[in-house]
Amino acid sequence: MTSEKLILKEMKNDSVALLKINRPKALNALNVEVLKELYNELQEIEKDETVKCVIITGSGEKAFVGGADIGSMKDMDTVEARKFSEFGNEVMTYIENLKIPVIAAINGYALGGGLELALSADIRIASENAKFGTPEINLGIFPGFGGTQRLPKIVGLHKAKELIFTGEIITAEDAKEANLINKVVKQEELMEVVTKMASKIASKSSIPLKLAKQVINRGYEEPIETGSLMETSSFSVCFSTEDQKEGMEAFLENRKPTFKDK
Ligand code: CAA
Repeated sequence: MTSEKLILKEMKNDSVALLKINRPKALNALNVEVLKELYNELQEIEKDETVKCVIITGSGEKAFVGGADIGSMKDMDTVEARKFSEFGNEVMTYIENLKIPVIAAINGYALGGGLELALSADIRIASENAKFGTPEINLGIFPGFGGTQRLPKIVGLHKAKELIFTGEIITAEDAKEANLINKVVKQEELMEVVTKMASKIASKSSIPLKLAKQVINRGYEEPIETGSLMETSSFSVCFSTEDQKEGMEAFLENRKPTFKDK
């Protein structure tokens, strides 16, 4: 890892990559440079067939991401703000649709654009000290990296509106209660728990993992009939793979499967 980089990449093992946002002094705030570097790293990871799960976290003990960079937004005009929001949304949607699963390891404040980043991940695990919110309303704006769209789907319209309209910051326990995150763990255990989960996911065959993510994401927006059709098509594709044969043979022979991602 080199200290100048805005995104630090580390392999936790052969198939799990960790991306760490590296602006701890600014609570890892997202400016265009951070977003670009994150985007580039994710594109590289997606090209690398050996990586089967990605973890995103923040540097330092205080913040996952404190939001979009307020200093860089302050003097934006409408055109610049539109570009910034479009690019932020593009990166968040890219993360949401990344072929492989993404886990957000939320190690502190996840506010504004930081919460929106976490919402783009497939799974959110937070440490006890984490805090969540969309305080944009206090700055005379509202969420611009997909928060108005993803938050209601995750916590329901009423809770999303409460958070967005009040700008209130809530604890990890309250976030769990609101269904905003999957799990809360002790601060010192966060990376261990997340790495363990990522490694478990990465030990599965990449083919059903990718297909399941695609079907869940695409089907979620569709009527059940369309979603079921997508499910059936992708489910049946699994039966053309060596891993399906191996998985079922291993079960019947009472042994652990060895998947080859084929
Ligand atoms: N942008 C730029 N800098 C930020 C930042 C942000 N979102 N969040 C924190 N920082 C900076 C602070 O300015 C401070 O810098 P200096 O040391 O140079 O003064 C440093 O990080 C440490 O922060 P604080 O001293 O404020 O730390 P604290 O413990 O007193 O407070 C906090 C922590 C409550 C999270 C506070 O920093 C805060 O309120 N941050 C802003 C949160 C916010 O409003 N986020 C939404 C941004 S807008 C957005 O995200 C729009 C969008 O959807 C696209």
